[in-house]
Amino acid sequence: MSRFYNENTRRLVPYTAGEQPQNMNFIKLNTNENPYPPSPLVMERIKNFDPERLRLYPNSDGAIVKKAVSEFYMIPEDTVFAGNGSDEILAFIFKAFFDSSCKIGFPDVTYSFYPVYCSLFEIPYIQVPVRDDFSIDFGDYPGDLKGIVFANPNAPTGLYIEPAAIEELAKSRRDTLIVVDEAYVDFGGGSCIPLTQKYDNILVVQTLSKSRALAGQRVGIAVGCRELIDGLVKVKNSFNSYPLDAIAQIAAEAAFQDREYFEITRNKIINTREYVKTKLLEMGAEVTDSKANFLFVRIPGISGPDALAKLRDNGVLVRNFSSGRISDWLRITIGTDEDMEKVVGIIKKIM
Ligand SMILES: Cc1ncc(COP(=O)(O)O)c(C=O)c1O
Repeated sequence: MSRFYNENTRRLVPYTAGEQPQNMNFIKLNTNENPYPPSPLVMERIKNFDPERLRLYPNSDGAIVKKAVSEFYMIPEDTVFAGNGSDEILAFIFKAFFDSSCKIGFPDVTYSFYPVYCSLFEIPYIQVPVRDDFSIDFGDYPGDLKGIVFANPNAPTGLYIEPAAIEELAKSRRDTLIVVDEAYVDFGGGSCIPLTQKYDNILVVQTLSKSRALAGQRVGIAVGCRELIDGLVKVKNSFNSYPLDAIAQIAAEAAFQDREYFEITRNKIINTREYVKTKLLEMGAEVTDSKANFLFVRIPGISGPDALAKLRDNGVLVRNFSSGRISDWLRITIGTDEDMEKVVGIIKKIM
């Protein structure tokens, strides 16, 4: 630790991302990437991109991404924000709307980046325990929170809350900003994006890293009322005016335009998930009702870290979170049918 670290940097406990091994012989099911390539339209646009254009700065607000999102969801462009992955957008949200004078809340079992942003920006927070079945009950959240943040479907449980329940939450707490992280919503959930056009206290974040197979390109979006989006633009322009590079913008635009490929690949992943879930349940494993591109699984008779290690020894990377309540559970990303068949066989062997 350098003596130049400030107090905050000294204290920071950063997010730990899933391993990205150089050895591609692993069946990689640890970071919820898409097992299928990006849409052929994305690849064609990237191939046809004139590298000469890299001389110029890209459009500063991701205008073509905003337009594509507005056409996809049939919403006004000025209610859309485009950014460098949803992680960075989440950071902008925490910075723009919360500070040390307020308190926010999120589930104790959710995306583990939220407490990291709170410590980075010195935002007081509470972690509200999910129920024993991992469900979120908004009745457990105190009334004085400035923000409630959660993933829907939640990570790593995959459990999903209907938009109608989130609408009730937003209606009953007009002074609480409800941030819905929809990283996995395309795998079986309904989006809260339509609600953002009605309520000024709902902000939805999505990523192109999962259902649109563009994790390597780093693109995310946020949708909310104009005033919220203006707040994000203000923070963005105080940090990095050009967060989305020129190639990322055309790739993201094409990913939204190729609806057919998006439908085919997400349905394939959903079908594989349901097949694997049935298999694991038949074998006696505990599996939540995930609406995401991963399953949350407990293999009886073996601890989470041991199961993780055994799978790794067999060439399969999955994720285990050491935190108390879920330490015996594994988050297993849904891969191709072929890979998942192998994984089911390995789990059977472990059991
Ligand atoms: C719930 C959740 N939100 C956000 C992200 C970040 O996605 P991105 O690749 O857009 O930064 C992830 C990534 O795994 C996630 O699980």
